[in-house]
Amino acid sequence: MSTAKKEYKRITVKSLVDMKKNGEKISMLTAYDYSMAKIVDSANVDVILVGDSASNVMAGHETTLPITLDQMIYHATSVIRAVDRALVVVDIPFGSYQSDPKEALRSAIRIMKESGAHAVKLEGGIEIKESVKRILNAGIPVMGHLGLTPQSIYKFGTYTVRAKENQEADKLMEDAHLLEKLGCFGIVLEKIPASLTKKVSESLTIPTIGIGGGKHADGQVLVIHDLLGMTYEFHPRFLRRYMNLYEEMGDAISKYVTDVKSRDFPSDEEQY
Ligand code: KIV
Repeated sequence: MSTAKKEYKRITVKSLVDMKKNGEKISMLTAYDYSMAKIVDSANVDVILVGDSASNVMAGHETTLPITLDQMIYHATSVIRAVDRALVVVDIPFGSYQSDPKEALRSAIRIMKESGAHAVKLEGGIEIKESVKRILNAGIPVMGHLGLTPQSIYKFGTYTVRAKENQEADKLMEDAHLLEKLGCFGIVLEKIPASLTKKVSESLTIPTIGIGGGKHADGQVLVIHDLLGMTYEFHPRFLRRYMNLYEEMGDAISKYVTDVKSRDFPSDEEQY
């Protein structure tokens, strides 16, 4: 089994490429606020993603589409204040880069300048080539995202596994190579067959980070609320839950309510 091989004081985009070269798997998790980011960073997670999944787990929207650039910058700013070691990557939200490359660059610059983040992530391949080029030319590191791209959910119609058919798998492979050639430092591969993740990962020098992409990705990412069992109604096959916080937090809060109602809290020792 491959475990951490080298101490990294601060993770950079170069560290991630080195990890792939050295056969060290990359850990990535989402965070959207200061307190959670502090815990995630202290646990030595390599990459913290301020994902547009904040739209779902923080704001309660059904999709990632409604979250705005200002809201993403607010989340990213809170995360950055907490982080000493991890590389912080921020999703450019839907509607802030698709219309033209200049808008994409303006959005990326706002994220970097206003939040202090280290890199941005965009969904798509050839369709966003000019935007990726322009952002990279400005010196901003870019992570790609292929496979199930949640910002296109209304085009796909469902959240099922992508690229099972040859045509879509071939396009994904071409897109991955294009993103590498343009200069992206990594690519998230979401919900695609493990065999395709293996082929893509073996043919690239930049790392792939899987979510529902199987064991052959160079790293793994999960949404922190899913890992901690706070989103109890969401249980895709790829998700490993490490806690059942929905129940544990609910129990603790119920006990608090009981203690307040029964006048047990606060006690003599808990007052001034
Ligand atoms: O927004 C997000 O959390 C993501 C991950 C699912 C990779 O993009």
